[in-house]
Amino acid sequence: MNDPVGGGSSGFAQQPVSVWRSLAGTAVLLDGFHALKHALRFGAEVPVAVTADREAALALADELAPDVRQALAALLTEVPETTYASLVPRPHPTAVAALAVRPSREGNLRALARTPRGAPVVVLDQPRNLGNAGAVIRLAAGFGATGVVTTGTLDPWHPTVVRGGAGLHFATAVERLDVGELPPGPLFALDPEGEDIRGLKLPDDALLAFGSERSGLSAAVRARADHLVALPMRPQVSSYNLATSVAMTLYHWSATGGAAS
Ligand SMILES: C[S@@+](CC[C@H](N)C(=O)[O-])C[C@H]1O[C@@H](n2cnc3c(N)ncnc32)[C@H](O)[C@@H]1O
Repeated sequence: MNDPVGGGSSGFAQQPVSVWRSLAGTAVLLDGFHALKHALRFGAEVPVAVTADREAALALADELAPDVRQALAALLTEVPETTYASLVPRPHPTAVAALAVRPSREGNLRALARTPRGAPVVVLDQPRNLGNAGAVIRLAAGFGATGVVTTGTLDPWHPTVVRGGAGLHFATAVERLDVGELPPGPLFALDPEGEDIRGLKLPDDALLAFGSERSGLSAAVRARADHLVALPMRPQVSSYNLATSVAMTLYHWSATGGAAS
């Protein structure tokens, strides 16, 4: 009998594949071992995880992530290679994929609004590049930022952003908001025309705003800004890449007394 999902009499579990197909439209795809590892570490709810090579995946866990090995062993179901490939847009070298429940907007909004705030919120003002947004979420997670807020049309939970974030959307609060809905706190907007960051201490409750790749800061964010801040740059260079600007700014915050890891 034809067995398009690799279950039934093949000896592989059928149920995870049906669960996958029922959740795929709404859940967050964790593409690869490292995305799943990060998501589990930061408390993601993962209803289903598959691999084309369970032994190899658990060997990776032994080597790189013993802290989540047990959770992975309980979650990962082996499916045939063709089944795995049919579930993901592009097979990952680790042949691991999982679906996670997207955290609720209400919970993220509560986390973003909570005061006193122990670490800044990064605001990406109308970003365009999905890869940049993913890299920024990874940076925010690494520095323990409270969250990453985007304005404009880019969806910060787009699968390409999630892939760039390496599963770290679950380590910080990621939401799209209008400028008028930004959480409270002094807004430091990054702009080459601003005051040199080297003379400033960025407070833990700051909103750190960065302009779009194409046109910089919007008029609405400029109007809401309390300070314009510049990263050092020699004359004749126009600007840095968005994600590297976020990296330098978060590093400056941490190096001048921001929350320790
Ligand atoms: C690629 S740049 C935007 C370039 C854009 N063409 C413009 O007109 O501003 C993206 C964002 O990174 C930040 N950025 C880049 N270089 C910076 C610098 N030297 N100082 C402060 N912020 C910078 C700013 O927030 C900027 O809006």
